[in-house]
Amino acid sequence: RPLIDPIPPVPAIYTSIGVSLLAFLITIYLIPALGPTFVKANLKGRDLLKIYADPIPESQGLVVASVYILSLILFIPFAFTRLFTELANAKPSTEGISVLEFPHHQLSVYLSSIISLLIATFLGFLDDVFDIRWRHKLPIPIIASIPLLMVYFAERGNTTIVVPLPFRGLLGQLVDLGPLYYLYMIMLSTFSTNSINILAGINGSEASQALVIALSVIVNDLLYLPWAVGFRIPLHLLGSRADVEVGGLWGAGMAKGSQVLVERHLFSLYFMLPLVAVLTAFLYHNWYPARVFPGDTLCYLAGMAFAVVGIQAHFSKTLLLFFMPQIFNFILSVPQLFGLVPCPRHRVPRFDPDTNLLYPSKAQFLQHPSKLSSLVLHILSGLGLVELTTHSRDGSILETTNLTIFNFLLVRFGPMNEKRLNQLLITTQVAGSIVAFVVRYGLAGLVYDG
Ligand code: UD1
Ligand code: MG
Repeated sequence: RPLIDPIPPVPAIYTSIGVSLLAFLITIYLIPALGPTFVKANLKGRDLLKIYADPIPESQGLVVASVYILSLILFIPFAFTRLFTELANAKPSTEGISVLEFPHHQLSVYLSSIISLLIATFLGFLDDVFDIRWRHKLPIPIIASIPLLMVYFAERGNTTIVVPLPFRGLLGQLVDLGPLYYLYMIMLSTFSTNSINILAGINGSEASQALVIALSVIVNDLLYLPWAVGFRIPLHLLGSRADVEVGGLWGAGMAKGSQVLVERHLFSLYFMLPLVAVLTAFLYHNWYPARVFPGDTLCYLAGMAFAVVGIQAHFSKTLLLFFMPQIFNFILSVPQLFGLVPCPRHRVPRFDPDTNLLYPSKAQFLQHPSKLSSLVLHILSGLGLVELTTHSRDGSILETTNLTIFNFLLVRFGPMNEKRLNQLLITTQVAGSIVAFVVRYGLAGLVYDG
């Protein structure tokens, strides 16, 4: 027996908060300090929605990604502090080897996640430098997610989905999607990276949406930690059948399953806390009027970080609920992405220097639109999602407002300045997350039992 008891290990969560604070300070300092270096390396862009044409340092997501990934790597030993002391105190077995096993699986969860984040950063940066065609860059996140899927497979991750009550008679209680579930997880990383990148182009938008999603994931993780035991969310106020008791699983005698659940959500927290830190520091400099641009690097990094926690901590469906504005923007964009409607290089709103307001930007048809294009646009116009300019004689479509959530918000609420439009995006994202929590913890009880 050691003479003095070993110092009780500092709970890793405090270390994670400490590392995040450090990451915040480094990022908030480095971003302006490295601005001129980026401009000199020709990593710069013009702010499309301003009168001035000064070069703004672009791809500063590279700084964010570097600080973020290094923080995560620095944190790895701390995630295992409890084990260090346990291993040191464990009685050696007859062969002199400790009976306690090092949890290699947990380490591989960390390492595979970091590989995926590195590839995402690499891809984003290449995209910033070379402007890769999207059909060329689409397969890369697919390959980047293979390590995540292997780890998921190694722990025999769940590939079944619970069938909603009305379909139980037909399909039974559980359906095993098997390989299809892996396909879905591959698509998730491609979607999360690209969907943030195409909801972009006004000051602060990329970092703000990622920040709201990261905070939503954190709130969701906190619901699974032991301190939340017995805390009731008064969902009956929102019309649900019953309140939800959070941490309930943990409270029930700390079954093995619930401990796994806690571990997974702790893992997610360890990845989200430093992300919130670096994004907040970046947003400080990227807020209207922006002194720096994120570049595709930041969009890919953030998107991959969400895919990583969604897959590794097994809450990808809840995660998708936090992506509602991105899903809306993507579906609305489909006719432009797939060539049904002309897609200009930039679809950001149009800036009017006289009023300092943003107006919906437009895509022009150089040739007569096909029947299918006209039909789709008339439906979208009927739903109030776009505004069309038609020929006075034959009524054929000449122009449409670009198919993005920003242009939709401007069509719906009228012209506004850039800062307000971003605030409106944040409000939408927050509202989406609130709906997500109600759906996940409230309505799920109506559709599923238990
Ligand atoms: C995506 C969008 C594109 C949008 C662009 C804006 C699709 C299919 N693509 O393209 O429509 O115009 O993002 O990021 O939807 N910029 C600003 N203010 C900002 C941020 C960016 O003016 O706050 C401009 C700068 O000129 C910057 C450029 O956008 O250089 C970056 O565009 P880039 O990321 O290369 O565009 P994509 O991701 O290819
Ligand atoms: Mg981009």
